Amino acid sequence: MYSSALATALSVLAVTSAANIPRQVANTTTQIAQLGGWVECLAVRSNGHLLATRLDVPELWTVDPTTKTTAKIATFPNALGLTGVAEIAPDVFAVVAGNFSTTAFTIGNGSWSVWKIDFTGATPKQTLLKAIPEAGFLLGATAFNNDTAFIADAGNGALYRISITTGEYEVVLQDPTMKAPDGSFIPEGIHGVRYIPQTGSVFFTNTFGSTFNKFDVNRTSGKPIVFSGVTTITTKVETPEDLAVIEGTAFIMSLNGGGIFRVTPDGKSTKIVDVTSGSTVAIGRGTTDARTLYFANSSGTISAVSSPL
Ligand SMILES: *[C@@H]1O[C@H](CO)[C@@H](O)[C@H](O)[C@H]1NC(C)=O
Ligand SMILES: *[C@@H]1O[C@H](CO)[C@@H](O)[C@H](O)[C@H]1NC(C)=O
Ligand SMILES: *[C@@H]1O[C@H](CO)[C@@H](O)[C@H](O)[C@H]1NC(C)=O
Ligand SMILES: *[C@@H]1O[C@H](CO)[C@@H](O)[C@H](O)[C@H]1NC(C)=O
Ligand SMILES: *[C@@H]1O[C@H](CO)[C@@H](O)[C@H](O)[C@H]1NC(C)=O
Ligand SMILES: *[C@@H]1O[C@H](CO)[C@@H](O)[C@H](O)[C@H]1NC(C)=O
Repeated sequence: MYSSALATALSVLAVTSAANIPRQVANTTTQIAQLGGWVECLAVRSNGHLLATRLDVPELWTVDPTTKTTAKIATFPNALGLTGVAEIAPDVFAVVAGNFSTTAFTIGNGSWSVWKIDFTGATPKQTLLKAIPEAGFLLGATAFNNDTAFIADAGNGALYRISITTGEYEVVLQDPTMKAPDGSFIPEGIHGVRYIPQTGSVFFTNTFGSTFNKFDVNRTSGKPIVFSGVTTITTKVETPEDLAVIEGTAFIMSLNGGGIFRVTPDGKSTKIVDVTSGSTVAIGRGTTDARTLYFANSSGTISAVSSPL
């Protein structure tokens, strides 16, 4: 009795709140910064500031979206540029560095390493965690738990896990769905990755495969649950790059498809922002920007758009 009354009350609540979601898509974009060169990935700190990796130079930048001020905060040696960035423990980030030429589009197989940058002290502290010489082209990063990052290897079609305490790493999964098709412009498969702890799901894009996929991992070990395999959610977003996920709905930046696409868990995709091209998208973490998407492109422009769910 009690539970069915509760279920009814909950479904009424669900209908009511669904009806309250505005139908109008608020997608006016605002430019917040221009970093002067290729921005590959964005992450958002708990203080609301953005971290931006540059692919054309090995520099990490910080951007305050409120004041629109920017600063270079770290430079990384022995690399042409940076790709993925993700917060692993509170204000401790993993950053990927390696050699990709943004002029020749050549990839330095074996040049990739993972760094840790710690913002908990008075000044940021960067440490080389590990060089991963077997990696072909390390790209997107996401936290698995407060010690472990998952990192995409776009070149070899694999997902790594690495401990930010010990630097120990291993391949979690190497799968045909993570490889770029033969004959692609460059061998860039698995690119954007997001782990959702509530469901134990790893979402990932395959850029030149033009697929958006997911698979489930054991929430304790981070190893794949073999029998469920990789599920392709959609093939409708052309050349997907980095992504953000809110409550199971993905917001994916397309390289050649002209914008940001919203992809619902059942695989329906809708373009919500028109931009010529872009590289990355991230969600705000403050009280005023918890529904704002920040995005960037290869000419260094960082913009914001209020995101519709
Ligand atoms: C990670 O979480 C565990 C359990 O909550 C905690 O004991 C540990 O201090 C955390 N480590 C870091 C680096 O935040
Ligand atoms: C990557 O590029 C840097 C900077 O040019 C160079 O010093 C380094 O040797 C390269 N690494 C590899 C593994 O080719
Ligand atoms: C990258 O180097 C590895 C050896 O570390 C090799 O097995 C692989 O074939 C190379 N990949 C490419 C695309 O050259
Ligand atoms: C998940 O991994 C943990 C630790 O390795 C293991 O104890 C547990 O049995 C696994 N659970 C499943 C459902 O495989
Ligand atoms: C806003 O979104 C609609 C689709 O909901 C799209 O048709 C329109 O082009 C978008 N406008 C901008 C400026 O991105
Ligand atoms: C990046 O965005 C700016 C501002 O919208 C635009 O002028 C520039 O052409 C864009 N670059 C690319 C590569 O799309």
